Amino acid sequence: MSEPLVLGIETSCDETGIGIVRGRTLLSNTIASSMDEHARYGGVVPEVAARAHLEALQPSIDRALAEAQVRLEDLDAVAVTSGPGLAGALMVGVGAAKGLAVALDKPLYAVNHLVGHIAADILDPDADPLEYPTIALLVSGGHTALLHVRDLTGDVELLGETVDDAAGEAFDKVARLLGLPYPGGPQIDKAALDGDPKAIRFPRGLSKASDMAKHRYDFSFSGLKTAVARWVERAEAEGTPVPTADVAASFREAVVDVLVTKALAACADLGVPRLLLGGGVIANRRLRDVALERAAAAGVTVRIPPLSLCTDNGAMIAALAAELIAQGRGPSTLAFGADSTLPV
Ligand code: KG4
Ligand code: ZN
Repeated sequence: MSEPLVLGIETSCDETGIGIVRGRTLLSNTIASSMDEHARYGGVVPEVAARAHLEALQPSIDRALAEAQVRLEDLDAVAVTSGPGLAGALMVGVGAAKGLAVALDKPLYAVNHLVGHIAADILDPDADPLEYPTIALLVSGGHTALLHVRDLTGDVELLGETVDDAAGEAFDKVARLLGLPYPGGPQIDKAALDGDPKAIRFPRGLSKASDMAKHRYDFSFSGLKTAVARWVERAEAEGTPVPTADVAASFREAVVDVLVTKALAACADLGVPRLLLGGGVIANRRLRDVALERAAAAGVTVRIPPLSLCTDNGAMIAALAAELIAQGRGPSTLAFGADSTLPV
């Protein structure tokens, strides 16, 4: 087959993403987000997300086809995120993908969302081909994971992940504590502009020697969130104004420090001089800057796909399926379902 034309469906969280690729070439990538509907709750509400996917799917598919200037019957395959993610949200995408594949009589590829984030990299037209092995650090509102990628199409190992909140979730919760709106990441970033990152030494989760033995590549952000809450409560009890800029900058520094430290520890331990970043939190400039600076000092090269491909999207799901097809891998049977805890 010449380069396969693949439509990818992503509904694991609050973005309805439909992407169309031809091999490694991105043709369209439409994203409908229900973020505004979650804003008043301060975080993603699973039921609301699932209903929003139902409403957004069909118009998103139509728009993606129009932008790519292809027809449904031109497709060579359909791909979908089968997990991990929110069960109800995943089910909407999986159901739609199965229906589409059966109706069109096209092969269907069920793929893992985290591996999809890594596949985003191959759609970057300006980047050299992805080299193996590489360490991948994926940080978003839904996940915080460190992976050892030996081959995108079948040899990806999860080294560690968050044991409680995802990093983006921590940004959202701390923003709420500081009276800033959802989503919190960009708000904290803005508030931190005039702050001193060294003003308050907030805890770095799972970084003590005793934790590192068992959780070397795992993350924890709930203790950090509690530490910020206590700090703010104390200031308020003492009647001193909360220095929002300093709290935001110090909190952000704690998150960035632990993410970069653990990612580079994995690079050093495993002798892998390459680090790939992905997920919506990569929008954080401080995270990118610290990663680039410390990686350079450690002789590690950093790859950062374009931000539009770092946040959840359907193109990365289609791209991963296109790679599987190129490797001669067969499609999934219709027996699979949505799996909220799908392992890599
Ligand atoms: O990947 P994404 O768009 O969606 C999922 O979570 O699946 O990531 C959204 C998360 C939110 O938690 C948001 O607060 C965070 O990424 N985020 C940021 C920044 N921009 C978005 N976190 C830190 N700094 C930012 N500039
Ligand atoms: Zn994601």
